[in-house]
Amino acid sequence: MKKTRITENVYWVGAVDWDRRLFDSLIPLPEGTTYNAYLVEGSEKIALLDAVDPSMLHVLMGHLADVPRIDYIISHHTEQDHSGTIPNLLERYPDAKVVASDKAKQLLTDHLKIPQDKIIVVQDGQTLSLGDRALKFIYTPWVHWPETIVSYLEPEKILFTCDLFGSHYASSDIFVRDQAAVYEAAKRYYAEIMMPFANLIDKHIQRLEPLEINMIAPSHGPIYQDHTWIVSAYRRWVSPQPENTVLLAFVTMHDSTKLMAEYLTGSLAELGIKVDRFNLPTTDLGKLAISLVDAATIIIGTPTVLGGPHPLAAYAALVINALKPKARYFSVIGSYGWGGKAVETLKTLVSGLKVEHLQPVLARGLPKENDYTTLQELAKTIAEKHRQLQLM
Ligand code: FEO
Repeated sequence: MKKTRITENVYWVGAVDWDRRLFDSLIPLPEGTTYNAYLVEGSEKIALLDAVDPSMLHVLMGHLADVPRIDYIISHHTEQDHSGTIPNLLERYPDAKVVASDKAKQLLTDHLKIPQDKIIVVQDGQTLSLGDRALKFIYTPWVHWPETIVSYLEPEKILFTCDLFGSHYASSDIFVRDQAAVYEAAKRYYAEIMMPFANLIDKHIQRLEPLEINMIAPSHGPIYQDHTWIVSAYRRWVSPQPENTVLLAFVTMHDSTKLMAEYLTGSLAELGIKVDRFNLPTTDLGKLAISLVDAATIIIGTPTVLGGPHPLAAYAALVINALKPKARYFSVIGSYGWGGKAVETLKTLVSGLKVEHLQPVLARGLPKENDYTTLQELAKTIAEKHRQLQLM
């Protein structure tokens, strides 16, 4: 995609990474991603807002081929997918200064070896004049890392948010066209990147609310010309109120746990509870994360392996714990042959969650009638808990 004008003085100069399928060696990217960078031409100064991932340096440099001067490189966020090519830009534009938050200054030096004297620190609320237009910086820490900021361009009234409101969604469209597809990608992005910081993001959104916004321009995914729907979605996602959903993530070896998962799924459904069920060996981690945004109850299903949970169940618990979902209840189902500590280990792995632990259900070998009865009791308990939260 070529450099694209988005308003008279603002251009998209980013890169579309259609084929990338993994981020941070962890996060699946079924729709690829983009690294959006923006060029703002003021009457006196020219600013580049963020850069691109090092793998896409050639694309960025191609967009800038006819740009002889850049005065400021705004680094909203130090992570390398946005700042990794700043050292190359400084070689090409040796007079440019990098503009960033106070916390970013050290990170830019630590991660990218950018000399400190090349960095201008802006404070929260500070404005940078480009002549006939200006960028106002707003500190929004932890919209992924502690140094993150957003900027607001006047008179265009564009809010540049970097990771916040972003989506890993490669597209030939600069602006959102397929809202449903971007919604799914943005929710996945929120779940994987933003959810651990939901409380802070809630405060940031409240703080940004008074701004008159014509566009939200994130650094991943299409630009929002109508931004109201994504802000509303974020408000729902950061809300502490869960939905009437059980996330059931399980792994099975010889079908005992699978039989239990199937029975519990049916029991919960009969009681009017939505079940998001994930068979862990084939689960897309992003889909599981999306379910965590809403689920009121999390159940992990595991056989006992070498005295503990199956490693895939342990991995799921570790990820769930790290993402800090809003779920209120947690339990374990599964099987064992001769003993073990699968439940204790999983409980330890999710010790960061603020959940009530419901009675686990473990079967010796294949589940028997009494195990199914206990699973039915677990389903009834969950329904009662969800009713108490007025979810059903
Ligand atoms: Fe898109 Fe946290 O970097």
